[in-house]
Formats: sequence, structure tokens, C-alpha cells
Amino acid sequence: MLLEEFGLERFFARWEFAAEMLLCASDIEGWPMRELLDFASEEDRCRWDDLQLGYTESAGAPALRTEIARLYERVQPDDVLVFAGAEEAVFALHDVLLGSGDHALVVRPAYQSLAEVARAAGAEVTRIELKAEAAWRLDIAEVRAALRPSTRLILVNEPHNPTGSLSDHATFNQLVELAAESGARLVVDEVYRFLEFDPADRLPAGADVLENGVSIGVMSKSFGLAGLRIGWIATRDRELLARLAAFKDYTTICNSAPSEVLALIALRARDRVLARNRGIVLGNLPRLDAFFGRWPGVFEWVRPRGGSIGFPRLVADVPIDRFAEDLVRETGVLLLPGTVFGDTANRFRIGFGRTNMPAALERLEAYAQRTLR
Ligand SMILES: Cc1ncc(COP(=O)(O)O)c(C=O)c1O
Repeated sequence: MLLEEFGLERFFARWEFAAEMLLCASDIEGWPMRELLDFASEEDRCRWDDLQLGYTESAGAPALRTEIARLYERVQPDDVLVFAGAEEAVFALHDVLLGSGDHALVVRPAYQSLAEVARAAGAEVTRIELKAEAAWRLDIAEVRAALRPSTRLILVNEPHNPTGSLSDHATFNQLVELAAESGARLVVDEVYRFLEFDPADRLPAGADVLENGVSIGVMSKSFGLAGLRIGWIATRDRELLARLAAFKDYTTICNSAPSEVLALIALRARDRVLARNRGIVLGNLPRLDAFFGRWPGVFEWVRPRGGSIGFPRLVADVPIDRFAEDLVRETGVLLLPGTVFGDTANRFRIGFGRTNMPAALERLEAYAQRTLR
């Protein structure tokens, strides 16, 4: 399988741990171990202290799968397969579902693996363009027009990386109907689920709305636990799940034992975990609104509806790659140029899931004062 270089991940490999402040991270501030362990019940604390570091059950610890299933309406623990992050889940899913002669629809922009692994698996991939002019909203007519008899899957990401867009309920229902009619499988990357700014905007999960629908979830984003490398696929299609389990035997076999216990503790305390994380995002968001309000004609901002990232445009006549590189070298603040998503309109990803975001934004603004006014 020949995969193209993962532009975003290579960029982060260069800068993530060299930059002083990340103003473009996709995740929420990682939880300190001590604080997470404070959430553990007595039983889970014993589970942690007495944990034996052998191989684990390849599908994922039963208690963890039970907790993951509780995030859905119609999903049973046996409908869940745990992976090393959402990334392994995406890799396995595309490999199992797609081959040459198959067709897949994937939104653009998107986290690169969502389309690239499909392509490398042999499928022809049609991109469904999300447009800033339409507030990055999914256009169902475009999805319908792109469908073919060979379309095996329709992959969307709600809320969306990098724009923070989120379909409204009516649009999502149309998408579900379209998938059901066409026979293409609906796959929803839901790594930002539970971070909708207005909880009423939360969409039903892919695994709940269709029997063969697929939800991809992870502890990294909404839960703020990227270091656990725990993600999952939930689907009521047990045949698909069995094929995915067989694939995983060739990748990670089973999950990290300590990570499974920590994920379990976090999910059992999910109300408190999510409340803290939503607090960070909703506290930072008005600062971004104010910032972009002060810079009309220099930056363009389409306000996200969920997640911890947005995709503004640098209107000023400076190429975003150069702007980002100069910014990080001079101020230590990292932005992510949109070019890693294939964007050609001078956009960049901004992240607001970190507690130092106000300080990073101040540095960006001071730099903009010096260089863009
Ligand atoms: C939309 C989306 N899907 C999947 C992933 C992969 O998640 P993880 O790195 O936690 O495996 C990411 C990571 O940035 C993402 O943004």
C-alpha cells in the first residue's frame, strides 16, 4: 500500500514539540494523570493499582466497551471494537471496506487519512467540497450527484476538522436517507462529538441511525486524552466488526492495558471530564470572536459550531506558509497552514482547546500589529 506523505503529521513532527505555544492543536488540553486518577472509584483504583501488564482482550476490555456503548442509543458492548486511536480505526476501516473498483465519497477539506487511506486501498475517491461561502456546510445535492452504483461509503466528519462546521439536523437526516437508499455505507468520524457549542446541535451517531452505519470515536479530542491512544469503531454490523477485528490482528493485536483502564475511568466520569473540556473551549471562543472582530479585511472568520478548531483565512497578501513559519520563529506561537489540507485560499487552522490560548492569541495579535497593519 503506497500512502502519500501525511502533510499535517509531518508538519507537527517538525513543530509540535519545538514551538512554545500551540495555537492550532486539534485536541483539548491533556488531563494530568493525577487529576484523572482522582475520578476513579475505589474499584477502578484497584483495577489500576493491580493491573497486570500482559496482553489484553483484542476487542478491548469488556468494561471499557460497555462504557463506550453508553455513549450511543442503540449500541451494545459487542458492537464496539477498540483501536489505537481513531487513526488505526480509519486505517482498518478503509482497508476492510474498500478495494479496486470501489468508489468512496469523502468531504474536503479533511484530516488527510480519511481520504488518503481510501485511495491507497485502491478505491476511487470523490471529494465533496465544503465551502467557506456556505459556512462549510455539507451540500446534499452534491453528495447525491456524486453517488455511483459502486459507491461503498460516504464519509463525513461531524463536527469537522479543520473548520468546526456541523451539519444541521435536517441536512444530516437527508444524508442518512441518501445513504440508506443508495446502499453506500455511512461512516461518521465523530471525534469531536460532545463538543457542540449548543448541545441541541448534537447529531445522532452514525452507529445509531443506520444498522450498517459506522461511528468513529476517540478519547483524544472531546475527552482531552490524546496520549491514551484509545479510539474505537461502533457499528451494529457485526460482520463488519468481525472483519475489522481480524484486520487488527495484523496491526496492534490488542490495546495498551494502562490506557484502557484510564479511558474507562475517564468515561465513567465523562460528565465531569466533558464539563471541564467544554469550559475551556467555550471560554476561549469569545476571545477569538473579539480578535477577528478587530481585524476585518485582514482575517476572515467563519465561526465554528463545534469542536476546538476553526479555519480562518489570512486575507492580507502574505502566503500563509511564510506567515506561519515567521510567526513561530519570532514568537513561539504555532499556527497550521491550510496548505496541509490542500487549501489554496491562504487559510490556517486555529485551535482553542488549550488553556494558554489567550496568551498565544495575544502574541499573534502583537505580531499582526507589527507585520500586517
Ligand atoms: C477528524 C479526525 N479523525 C481522526 C483523527 C485521528 O485521531 P487520533 O490521533 O486520536 O487517532 C484525527 C486527529 O487529529 C482527526 O482530526
